[in-house]
Amino acid sequence: MTDPAEAPFVFDPPSRPAAWYLLAPSSALPRGRVLTRRIGQDEVVLFRAESGNVGALAPHCWHMGAHLGNGCVTGEHLQCPLHHWAWDREGVPGQIPGGGRAPASARQPGYAVAERLGGVWVWMGDGPPGPVPGFETFADDELLTSHGRPVRLRCAWYAPAANGFDEQHLSTVHGRALRERPQVDVPEPGRMRMRYLSRVTGTGLADRVMKRLSGDHIRVQINCWSGATVTVESDLGRTRSALLLAFVPVGGEVEVTPVFTTRRGGPPGMARLRLAVARFLFTRFIEKDVQVMQGMRFRPRLPLRGNEALETFLRWASALPGERTPHSSTTP
Ligand code: FES
Ligand SMILES: [Fe+2]
Repeated sequence: MTDPAEAPFVFDPPSRPAAWYLLAPSSALPRGRVLTRRIGQDEVVLFRAESGNVGALAPHCWHMGAHLGNGCVTGEHLQCPLHHWAWDREGVPGQIPGGGRAPASARQPGYAVAERLGGVWVWMGDGPPGPVPGFETFADDELLTSHGRPVRLRCAWYAPAANGFDEQHLSTVHGRALRERPQVDVPEPGRMRMRYLSRVTGTGLADRVMKRLSGDHIRVQINCWSGATVTVESDLGRTRSALLLAFVPVGGEVEVTPVFTTRRGGPPGMARLRLAVARFLFTRFIEKDVQVMQGMRFRPRLPLRGNEALETFLRWASALPGERTPHSSTTP
C-alpha cells in the first residue's frame, strides 16, 4: 500500500476560490446604478442605494425569478422589474405593491460587499470573509488609484496568479535577474507572499527607465490573496510603487483587471503625472505576461527545479477552499 505521505501531488485548485473579487471600479457604480457581473458560473447584481451603500444580490428574484439586473434602485432597495418587490442590501423585502406583506421566508440571497482602493469587492465563499486585499507598505489614503480595462485571458485564473511566483520567467519574459534567493511565506491564512531583490537585464525603454529609477536594485514583494488578487509592491530606492491585479474566473477563462496607483501629494498635477508613468511601466510589464499566457493550459510538471517558490505556490493554491468544477483539474 502507498503511504499517503508519499502519494504524488496532484495540482487541483478550485475553479473559483473562496475570495474577495473585484467586480467593478466604484466610479462605475454611482448612486442609483445597477450592474450585473459574471463570476465563475454565476452572476451577481450590484447596486448603489441612495445612501451610497452598495449591495450585491443573486440575480434571480426570490418571488418569481425575474432578473434583478433589469431592476432599478428605489431609496435603499433594488426593485424587481416584474412585480416591483423591493429588496434591501441584506435581501430583506420592503413593502410590496398593493400594500401587502411578503411572507416571512422571503429572502433574496446576497453577498458581503466592501469598497477598497477605488473598487467594489464581493466575497464569494462559504466561510466568513477574510481580509479585503490591500497593500502591506502603503495606507489606502496615501494612494491615488486608476482601474485599467479588464483583459480576458484564455487560461484558468491560476495561470496569472502563479505567474507572480514564477522566478524563472522573470529573466525569460521580463528581463530581470534575482540578486538573491526569494523568500516565500504565508503570513496569514489565505495569503501567500514572496519577496526578492532584482536587477534589470532587459534593454527596452521601460527597462531603461526602471534601471535609472531604481539604481538597478528593485526590491519586490508580491502577495496573493486567496487566489483572486495579486498585489505587487516595489521599492526602487528613491521611490516606491504598488500595483494590484484582480482575477475573475469566467467559464474556463479569467478576466484580469489591473489597478495602478501612485502616492498622493506634491505640486498640483504631479500625482497624476506619476500615475501616468506607473501605468506606462506596469502596462509594459503586464503585456509581456498577457502575450505568453493566452491559450495556456496550465499543467505544471513537478518537481520544478530552480522554481521552488512556484512549486510552493502551487501546493498552497491547490489547498485553497472554494468551488470545484471540472475546469479545475489538470488535464493530462
Ligand atoms: S419576480 Fe420579482 S417581484 Fe415578482
Ligand atoms: Fe510576469
